[in-house]
Amino acid sequence: GRRVTVRDIAAAKERHEKWPVLTAYDAMTARVFDEAGIPVLLVGDSAAMVVYGHDSTVPVTVDDLLPLTAAVVRGSSRALVVADLPFGSYQSSPEQALGSAVRFMKEAGAHAVKLEGGRRVLPQVEALVSAGVPVMGHLGLTPQSVNVLGGYRVQGRGESGEELMKDAKDLERAGAFAVVLECVPAELAERVTTSLSIPTIGIGAGPGTDAQVLVWQDFMGLTPRPARFVKRYGDLAGDLDRAARAFAADVATGAFPAPEHTYT
Ligand code: KIV
Ligand code: NA
Repeated sequence: GRRVTVRDIAAAKERHEKWPVLTAYDAMTARVFDEAGIPVLLVGDSAAMVVYGHDSTVPVTVDDLLPLTAAVVRGSSRALVVADLPFGSYQSSPEQALGSAVRFMKEAGAHAVKLEGGRRVLPQVEALVSAGVPVMGHLGLTPQSVNVLGGYRVQGRGESGEELMKDAKDLERAGAFAVVLECVPAELAERVTTSLSIPTIGIGAGPGTDAQVLVWQDFMGLTPRPARFVKRYGDLAGDLDRAARAFAADVATGAFPAPEHTYT
C-alpha cells in the first residue's frame, strides 16, 4: 500500500472521521504504530525531553532530530511522517524555515513539517507551502515559547481565544494542511474545528477536534508525571522496572541463561 497523504487527511475531515496521531522517534516503535494503522506519525521536538533528557523543547536542534526522523521514515511504510521544526530553525526568516524543512525532507525523508505559532510565522508557512512543503501549524500551548508563556498552562481562555481563532484562520489561509491545538479549552477547540476546513489535531483540547495526538511515552505510561490530558494505555515504566528486576534476580541466581538460551 501507499503512504497516507495530506489529501487523505483532508478527505477524512469531509467524512467527519476522527483519527489518531502518535509521536515516534525510532524505527521499531514507528513500525508498530504504522502496522496498527496510525495514519500520521509526528517526530516531535518533544524528543528533547523523552529522548534526550532536556527539561524543555528549547535546546533540541535540527541535527538532533534528523536521525530520529530518518529512523521513523525507515520504520514505517503507510504513515505520513511529520517532522517538527525545532526552536531556532525557522523563526528568523522564510529562507531559514525553507532551509530547515528541506533538510528534513531530503536528508530524513519527512513528508511534512510542523512549526509553532500563528500570525508571526505566516511568511514562513507561505514560503514552505509554495515550495511544496506540507505544513502543520501548532497553536495554544506552544512549548518552544515556554519562557514567554511563563510555564505549561492552558491557553486561549477569554479574549485570547479570539486571537487563537484568528491565528487558526490565518494558518489555513496561508496553506497549512492541519493545525495542532494544544492545551486549550474544549469549547474553543470545537469552535476552531468547525470554523476551519483543514483538520484540527488536539492534545489537551477536548473531544471536539478532528484528530487526537499523544506523545507515545505518555500514553504508554513511561513518563513519570504526565499531564491531566494524557490517558494511559499501558504501564511501560512498571513493565520495564519489573523486567529489569527479574533479569537481575535471574542473573544473580543463575536461572538465566537456561539450557534453551545456550549453545552447545
Ligand atoms: O513535540 C510534540 O510531541 C508535539 C505534539 C505534542 C503535538 O508537538
Ligand atoms: Na512539538
